Amino acid sequence: MQDYHEYLDEILVTEDQLQKRIAELGEEISKDYAGQTIHMICILRGGVMFLSDLVRHISVPNTMDFMAVSSYGTARQSTGQVRITLDLTEDIHHRNVLLVEDIVDSGYTIASVLGFLETRRPQSLRVCTLLDKPLRREVDVPIHYRGFTIPNKFVFGYGLDIDEFYRNLPFIATVDLNRYQPEGS
Ligand code: PRP
Repeated sequence: MQDYHEYLDEILVTEDQLQKRIAELGEEISKDYAGQTIHMICILRGGVMFLSDLVRHISVPNTMDFMAVSSYGTARQSTGQVRITLDLTEDIHHRNVLLVEDIVDSGYTIASVLGFLETRRPQSLRVCTLLDKPLRREVDVPIHYRGFTIPNKFVFGYGLDIDEFYRNLPFIATVDLNRYQPEGS
């Protein structure tokens, strides 16, 4: 396995920048939901780091739940279809749902998850993503809270993996594709 230092291009978002922005998002969300409760839903696995830091800056009462989705083989590229591989534990009917994601790329994941959740009739449904990569968008999705808009680069760290590793890094980095050797290649 290659050490990430061998292919790291640049630190796109430092730990300080991440934590400062996450605190701002937490304050903004707390103001918007003042007097209400929030049910935070994290899409596994990339959103876990973000959720756990974000929720510490949310001052209104909140609950949390998790779900996981996966693409139908390679079909996601052409049809955007995803299926639920881990469903929510609790009912969301009449709750203020805030969907927490690490990144919106093509938009297929969020579009599908919003579709699933809308059928369960929450009181409100909003999206909070740490990263937004608009240059890759294939389907329009509503983003209510956004940490950073990033260029169309291969990123990893802070929840985002590279061959499943390095989700634990406290910063977001980009990959130099000339020096990166995918696992099994
Ligand atoms: C990543 C990320 C988002 C999705 C965004 O998940 O966490 O859920 O892709 O891409 P999209 O906008 O093109 O749908 P991934 O499927 O890599 O799973 P992971 O979170 O377990 O790494």
